Amino acid sequence: MRRKRVLLTTVTLAVTGALTAGVLVTMAPAASAGTTLRAAAAEKGRYFGAAVATGKLSNSTYTTILNREFNSVVAENEMKWDATEPQQGVFNYSGGDRLVSHARANGMSVRGHALLWHQQEPGWAQNMSGSALRSAMINHVTQVATHFKGQIYAWDVVNEAFADGGSGGRRDSNLQRTGNDWIEAAFRAARAADPGAKLCYNDYNTDGVNAKSTGIYNMVRDFKSRGVPIDCVGFQSHLGTTLASDYQANLQRFADLGVDVQITELDVMTGGNQANIFGAVTRACMNVSRCTGITVWGVRDCDSWRGSDNALLFDCNGNKKPAYDSVLNALNAGTGIPNPTTTPPNPTTTPPNPTTPPPGGAGCSATVSANSWTGGFVATVKVTAGSGGTRGWSVSVTLPGGTSVTGTWSATASGSSGTVRFANVDYNGQLAAGQVTEFGFQGNGTAPTQTPTCTAS
Ligand code: XIL
Repeated sequence: MRRKRVLLTTVTLAVTGALTAGVLVTMAPAASAGTTLRAAAAEKGRYFGAAVATGKLSNSTYTTILNREFNSVVAENEMKWDATEPQQGVFNYSGGDRLVSHARANGMSVRGHALLWHQQEPGWAQNMSGSALRSAMINHVTQVATHFKGQIYAWDVVNEAFADGGSGGRRDSNLQRTGNDWIEAAFRAARAADPGAKLCYNDYNTDGVNAKSTGIYNMVRDFKSRGVPIDCVGFQSHLGTTLASDYQANLQRFADLGVDVQITELDVMTGGNQANIFGAVTRACMNVSRCTGITVWGVRDCDSWRGSDNALLFDCNGNKKPAYDSVLNALNAGTGIPNPTTTPPNPTTTPPNPTTPPPGGAGCSATVSANSWTGGFVATVKVTAGSGGTRGWSVSVTLPGGTSVTGTWSATASGSSGTVRFANVDYNGQLAAGQVTEFGFQGNGTAPTQTPTCTAS
């Protein structure tokens, strides 16, 4: 290992049934206790994710747990630089694509990890420096983010760029030696390539207010003040046997800068405190309205990179551990996000103004189809431009009661329940007369059946 970091109240509203004039009208429950991590998190407008090694997707014990409990995935290794660009300019997306299609088929969103990191650089990049490396790394960001455009909820654009210890400064690496502005250059390239993805900075040993987390805090504050596109900060949270008492306060101070926060690689050393620490981390996230989700770094203890630490929520046989119950209870007892949205807070493109009259009276139309399972669905919306084409479009979809949107691709959503408005992203707004484009979303509850309304600009 390259480094060792040792470091319910459940309110169930009864389903109300009423027999009116011989018609059974069933009201969806307004709130209930989720019985899986994914359901419990989604009820609170959040995701619960796992790092996946795609080689394990053929293991049925593994996949059964993954599909039942998680509604977000991240590639443990398959989207890293060494995997995606093994030779300069030669890209391999097979593992990443496999994970994305598994996610699509199972109503999961995808975190992208990681565009630039000083670890797991391919050998050719390790041997580079200066302006040649700078252009190779920005090209890497552009190519990979473009390949996965529209499919990634949030990218770890830069991973682990700050030094441990008391300096609060940058870590030395060949990336850093290309100039201190390498991080903002990477974020700008990622935004240009995939304007719909949230862009995160991700790091470890940031589990409280300390010199390292404060260094990152100052960078994020600077980025926000200068308009560098950053939407979120990931807290890896590879934890030992204690949790910093200011874990939540640290998340909150970042959220107060105007970025989302996410727990991105949670695992906790085994021992008496494991269940309590998992629960405390989950509660901290639930108490911060901009904490949009939690990812654990693997499924079963035996899947973990931490070897004998038994650091995860399921044992090697796939049984739930006490830590699992602790997390589930904390999710169910938590506070929901007031207005969950998949729209990045500072998109570079202005959403089309639906009150602008369409040029030449052109309109658009939309149809929706869905794959549903008990409690959830994935919907595909087809947008067709009218006779005048479109410069931009928005589609309003009315969801059945109790249904909420948990993820969107190739569009940006406003709202998550009731009538949800989906606007084009920058690459699919302009349509010629009769041209068709598709976007999609996943949700909890029942798939929409009403024909959506489409407005062109
Ligand atoms: C780890 C993987 O889990 C291992 O399979 C691999 O050998 C090394 O990387 N921080 C990160 C993750 O951001 O990418 C690392 O994942 C764990 C630490």
